[in-house]
Amino acid sequence: MDKIIVTGGERLVGEVSVSGAKNSALPILASTLLSKGDQTLFNVPSLVDVKTILKLLQGLGAKVVSEQETCTVSFSSITHCEAPYDLVKTMRASILVLGPLVARFREARVSLPGGCAIGARPINLHLMGLEKMGADIRIEHGYVIVKAKKGLHGARIPLDIPTVTGTENLMMAAVLANGTTVIENAACEPEILDLAQFLVKRGARIRGAGTETITIEGVPRLDGGEYTIMPDRIEAGTFLIAGAITGGDLFVKQVPHHTLEALIGKLKESGIEVKGKDGGLHVRVLDKVKAVDIKTMPYPGFPTDMQAQMMSLMVLSSGLSVITEMIFENRFTHVSELKRMGADIKVQGNHAIVQGVKHLSGAPVMASDLRASACLILAGLAAEGETEISRIYHLDRGYERIEKKLSQLGAKICRVKDHP
Ligand code: EPZ
Repeated sequence: MDKIIVTGGERLVGEVSVSGAKNSALPILASTLLSKGDQTLFNVPSLVDVKTILKLLQGLGAKVVSEQETCTVSFSSITHCEAPYDLVKTMRASILVLGPLVARFREARVSLPGGCAIGARPINLHLMGLEKMGADIRIEHGYVIVKAKKGLHGARIPLDIPTVTGTENLMMAAVLANGTTVIENAACEPEILDLAQFLVKRGARIRGAGTETITIEGVPRLDGGEYTIMPDRIEAGTFLIAGAITGGDLFVKQVPHHTLEALIGKLKESGIEVKGKDGGLHVRVLDKVKAVDIKTMPYPGFPTDMQAQMMSLMVLSSGLSVITEMIFENRFTHVSELKRMGADIKVQGNHAIVQGVKHLSGAPVMASDLRASACLILAGLAAEGETEISRIYHLDRGYERIEKKLSQLGAKICRVKDHP
């Protein structure tokens, strides 16, 4: 296992490019199951989670050719329709093959994704939608078995919660269904629009992706095609906070400003200068960072995937910040680690009360999930002395060699072997 060592106190200066979006690449790669013929994707991030879903697709019969950020997937035939436990347990987003498998092959056997550090992560809404489209669902020996002997038919699917992968799974299931499907209270994340744009390029008929109501008219088949995956807005947001927390002067290239408006609004409210320029974002700290309150919400609200990173910034702000996590039931696992570094945080239910402190001191800490890993790196960049972050296999799931990108901006950071 590796660990990351950060020596704090360096200002980050310069410009950085973000990789393709993990949470767009995963559903888009799963959607290749829907077509025969070659599908070429550009700007694919080199991440553990992407490698996992490619392994899963190969297990289902795909031919995959990857070369740097370009990946070509072709499904001339499918060997079987099972997503095995040993792969799904490493990445719960494997559930994204469920909708495409049922749509194309009228059956699927997918291991139930377990929970994870941040919550139980149920898939009841994914299954409710497939049932409304005519599928029979059985749960057996830890697997969900879905059959639709006569194929799926269109349906009206009101979602109790705007689930991101639930919306993506049901949209993919509906593109080949017989008739029209309307998903109501759909998630509106930009990654859903990215997936829909690739599906439409291949012949799907989708209206309203990126809004709360998505209408999909089923078509007989989808062709192959090619597509460039959008930049990763969460990676971009992480770098914006890296620039802010070190009092630096940073330009993050190719970030669609509109995908991060809630975060940008909060950074500006805390006195940080964030300016859109040439398709990117420029961040600079003009004065002491002021404490602001954060409440995570479905898009376009403040993203839950930026909550931990923003907490690092608030730990060193002047004043009191109340951070409320509305999406996941256990997404404060980074709090205890930040407190080891001298942070003053009290957790009450789904609120974290953060009293800004003058400084943090470097310490050995442990990553518990993907965004918590990023949060601890950010804290280490600003702490006095050395911070050692262990279990960074969490980090590699969603950030492409972040330590290289940060050191090119002036950070004192390196990756070393962790011999327990
Ligand atoms: C996606 O997860 C993202 N993952 C997550 O990013 C992100 O945090 C999350 O959306 C919220 O934005 C991918 O896109 C691969 P949800 P997802 O279904 O789809 C409840 C990261 O760090 N729910 O929108 O699993 C659920 O318990 C990861 O990149 C049900 O109750 O999240 C949660 O409380 C972490 N029943 C809420 O909805 C369901 O059937 C939102 O979950 C589905 C979800």
